[in-house]
Amino acid sequence: MYSYKVTTLNDFIIMRQKDFPYAKGELSSLLSNIGTAAKIVNKKINKAGLVDIIGKAGMVNIQGENQQKLDVFADKVFTDALRSCGECCGIATEENQNEIVFSDRIARKGKYIVCMDPLDGSSNIDYNVSVGSIFSIYRRKTPRGEPVKNEDFLQKGISQVAAVYVIYGSSTMLVYTTGNGVNGFTLDPSIGEFCLSHPDIKTPADGRIYSINEGNYGYFPQGIKRYIKYCQEEDTETERPYSSRYIGSLVSDFHRNLIKGGVFLYPPVAGMPEGKLRLVYECNPISLIAEQAGGAASGGSKRILEIEPGSLHQRSPLYAGSKNMVRKIEKFLTA
Ligand code: AHG
Ligand code: MN
Ligand code: MN
Repeated sequence: MYSYKVTTLNDFIIMRQKDFPYAKGELSSLLSNIGTAAKIVNKKINKAGLVDIIGKAGMVNIQGENQQKLDVFADKVFTDALRSCGECCGIATEENQNEIVFSDRIARKGKYIVCMDPLDGSSNIDYNVSVGSIFSIYRRKTPRGEPVKNEDFLQKGISQVAAVYVIYGSSTMLVYTTGNGVNGFTLDPSIGEFCLSHPDIKTPADGRIYSINEGNYGYFPQGIKRYIKYCQEEDTETERPYSSRYIGSLVSDFHRNLIKGGVFLYPPVAGMPEGKLRLVYECNPISLIAEQAGGAASGGSKRILEIEPGSLHQRSPLYAGSKNMVRKIEKFLTA
């Protein structure tokens, strides 16, 4: 008799709570709140062509980028969910210059802070290309009960207690780690639950996909130019030439490579000597997931998770995915 036993995200979070003998479920409640808010954002994205949610919001965010309506919507949904969950005392978001302090009585006592990119890849929204949301979770450093401070958000990526991304693709998935491996959950719209679909994700040590915006080739560091040529050379032993796959949404490009094997590259380019991606809410959470799945993530000469953040929106080059491919890129960069 076929038993349709599903393990929902909440079932799994509770099951895995045993990984944290001293935890009283606060992180669990934070993670499940992110899951619930993601379902709300997912519903809007799935109707993007039918409801007034595509196009520009007519505002520019602190990055000087045109905010898409869905950026603003996702930012509000996740901010409200984190403010009301009672475990988070403040957030840093791509859409705001400074951190947002949650000062109401319950939130103020929250143990955790969250850094987020509420909508990643948003320039793709109007063209029905998959996008994502990214979250990086830390314990606050300053005393509980006091207003959270900027220093709470500038911790090295190695101190993250959890990293989460949601990918709104052909199906909607939530992938997360709390430092004990990586697990993926696919949203089953018929029951409105994220169900365990990719237990204990391990990324292949080698892959045949490289993901980079080759339009910037002229600006890349020499080592990256040489690496791209290396990927394009014919060599049966190392199964080259590789395939070039680039969607332009970090979460989507990274997720495909995580499962299949491959490497994502965003090097320094013209006008962005540190690359385009932000360390605190894009590179760090993606890098923790990469490492927890057996992969690697580098800024070129240094492990991403070891970089000391100096400011909320600072950028970093990012080379993340299959371990041997990241190491190869580092060799090309330091040769
Ligand atoms: P966001 O939409 O949050 O600003 O992030 C977009 C990022 C990332 O998702 C993607 O990898 C990168 O921008 C693509 O940049 P290019 O268009 O310069 O290749
Ligand atoms: Mn982004
Ligand atoms: Mn974004």
